[in-house]
Amino acid sequence: METIIKKTSENGAIKVASEILKRGGLVAFPTETVYGLGGDALRPDASMHIYKAKGRPSDNPLIVHIADKKDVYNLAENVSPKAEALMEAFWPGPMTLIFNKKEVVPKETTGGLNTVAIRMPSHPDAARLIRESGVYIAAPSANTSGRPSPSTAEHVIEDLDGKIDMILDGGPVGIGIESTIVDMTSEIPTICRPGFITKKMLESIIGEVEIDKALISPDKNLHPKAPGMKYTHYAPQGQLYIVESSVDERVVTEEVINKINSLVEEKSKEGFKVAVLTTKDKMSSYKCDNIILLGEKGDGTTVASRLYAALRECDAIQADYIYSEGFNRDDLGGAIMNRLIKSAGHKVILV
Ligand code: TXA
Ligand code: MG
Repeated sequence: METIIKKTSENGAIKVASEILKRGGLVAFPTETVYGLGGDALRPDASMHIYKAKGRPSDNPLIVHIADKKDVYNLAENVSPKAEALMEAFWPGPMTLIFNKKEVVPKETTGGLNTVAIRMPSHPDAARLIRESGVYIAAPSANTSGRPSPSTAEHVIEDLDGKIDMILDGGPVGIGIESTIVDMTSEIPTICRPGFITKKMLESIIGEVEIDKALISPDKNLHPKAPGMKYTHYAPQGQLYIVESSVDERVVTEEVINKINSLVEEKSKEGFKVAVLTTKDKMSSYKCDNIILLGEKGDGTTVASRLYAALRECDAIQADYIYSEGFNRDDLGGAIMNRLIKSAGHKVILV
């Protein structure tokens, strides 16, 4: 299949994309978090094509994107006052809410579940596409299943060129990691995937919020509430290790730097290609040919926006071993470490 690629600023680009969506085709488009791979959420055939193009297991449900808060009531049952308060505070924006689904939402879109995940993105191109097409857009991240999510149109092209009808290029996204998912069907609203909207921010609006225990417990037998969180994910092709101080995980100590340098030396001598993921302030501390920057330590937003691009750079240089510093787990740092630890398949070295 020939994939049409157009900049969102190009005259008529959104119109072409809208027509494709209306006839059940697939369009990748920018959102403020990551690029999404969109299809008509109410058409089972469109959802099945999304799974096929991504190579995604079909029990992993899709998020439905809307352009108007009131559309929630067409798709979801029992929208609680707490949900409405969150919608008022954080929509449009990087927050997905899970509700009991209405009959119109096909099981193909929800991975067989009776619940539906809904988000109203703030990216102007995404909002225009939803409005102009008149379609509720089911959209997972626009990457091949298992690879890092795309934060630029080039990342989408790497994974999906030739497999979907169109890619809308709106430039690099702002946030860089996927939306916070909150399950509103449980007694106490529960975070199923951490993101830019933090627990503190949610609690400032509705009071107590829980974090899905499967995300924080070392017990591997707990099933995450968001099926997607159980898969190996966001992973570069090389072996990624996180090296952290056992005394204070927030500080990149001399011990951490020495450990990373000795691992780099060891693996390089064995003939492997090695990369180090670090931030601006520590980059000169490492002796490695491939230093890949993750932004600035004190500013989580710069790290989030670079994270997936950095992991893809590791693939581009065909790194066999990758060593990364850790980050604090507060607020946005928690979302960053959730992705990084999954990318590393939980390989953390404490020194
Ligand atoms: O920021 C985002 O959310 C991006 C952009 C494109 O909007 N989308 C995204 O979609 O990250 P995806 O498919 O890569 O991740 C969706 C996550 C998966 O972990 C999935 O299991 C979970 O949402 N999910 C979707 N519907 C659910 C439901 N009904 N119950 C529990 N989890 C659900
Ligand atoms: Mg994804």
